[in-house]
Amino acid sequence: MNREAQKREINQKVILIDEALSRYLPGPQVTPAAVHEAMRYSVFAGGKRLRPILFLAAAEAAGGDIAPLMPAACAIELIHTYSLIHDDLPVMDNDDYRRGKLTNHKVFGEAMAVLAGDALLTLAFGLIAECGLTGGVSPLVTAEVIREVSRAAGSQGMIGGQVVDIQSENQSIDKKTLAYIHAHKTGALFKASVRSGALMGGGTEQEIRNLTEYAENLGLAFQITDDILDVEGDSQKLGKTVGSDERKKKSTYPAIYGLENSKKSAADVVTKAISALDAFGEKADILRYIADYLLHREK
Ligand code: IPE
Ligand code: IPE
Ligand code: MG
Ligand code: MG
Ligand code: MG
Repeated sequence: MNREAQKREINQKVILIDEALSRYLPGPQVTPAAVHEAMRYSVFAGGKRLRPILFLAAAEAAGGDIAPLMPAACAIELIHTYSLIHDDLPVMDNDDYRRGKLTNHKVFGEAMAVLAGDALLTLAFGLIAECGLTGGVSPLVTAEVIREVSRAAGSQGMIGGQVVDIQSENQSIDKKTLAYIHAHKTGALFKASVRSGALMGGGTEQEIRNLTEYAENLGLAFQITDDILDVEGDSQKLGKTVGSDERKKKSTYPAIYGLENSKKSAADVVTKAISALDAFGEKADILRYIADYLLHREK
């Protein structure tokens, strides 16, 4: 597949994901309308859909058919969106823009933003279960994915990373602590996206091991570039305010390693991610494309 075809394939997946998300989320008129409006506002504010794309691409790399897996792929996007709504709250990062729009609490108030986030997280697990109930995925694999996603999103996964991120504001932390923050606050959900897709797509143990290695490196590359973009990105393109990390005295990659070393590290881990895909041949082209895209992304 050439790059143009890969790009088209990704755009096609985004359309499918957006259509499915719209079906799964209660309509804005459904009672209680305020929370459904707030949920839909952030979900459809223009996210890149990286995690569900990765889920679906991993399922395909493992030889699976993606149509029945849409609920689980979308579930991860809902968890991600909830994490952003809460991450932006005044008691967390206190940011005003996300995905090119005002943050959820700026529009709906803090109470509704908290509740919309809670509701997205809760809905996600019901959607994963749907793959086992109506999507033809075995109950065992469905349960495995629920466990995987629960761990990745929880206090020893994404939330754990958010906790240490918050505790590390205004602190000088060591490289090990920074690695913990990155692997957890961002890496965990990337890893779960890829592994869950591979599990539901019927991947072998070896395939899942390779895809896990890909995802760990990809997740790290993603957060390093997120930190770099907060320093030198364009807030118009990014859809969020730059300089937020400096303002909150966050412990970031550029803050600890410097900008040039951070760029080098991002390139190194992307190379590692792509090497982990060697055994897959063409089936993993989309995964390769995404890894490469991370190095040049502007949003
Ligand atoms: C931003 O994630 C938050 C982090 C985990 C660093 P994305 O850059 O994937 O955000 P969207 O989904 O495209 O808005
Ligand atoms: C957020 O990390 C990770 C989440 C779990 C939401 P950041 O705080 O760096 O994300 P941005 O930069 O606000 O998107
Ligand atoms: Mg944060
Ligand atoms: Mg933030
Ligand atoms: Mg950031």
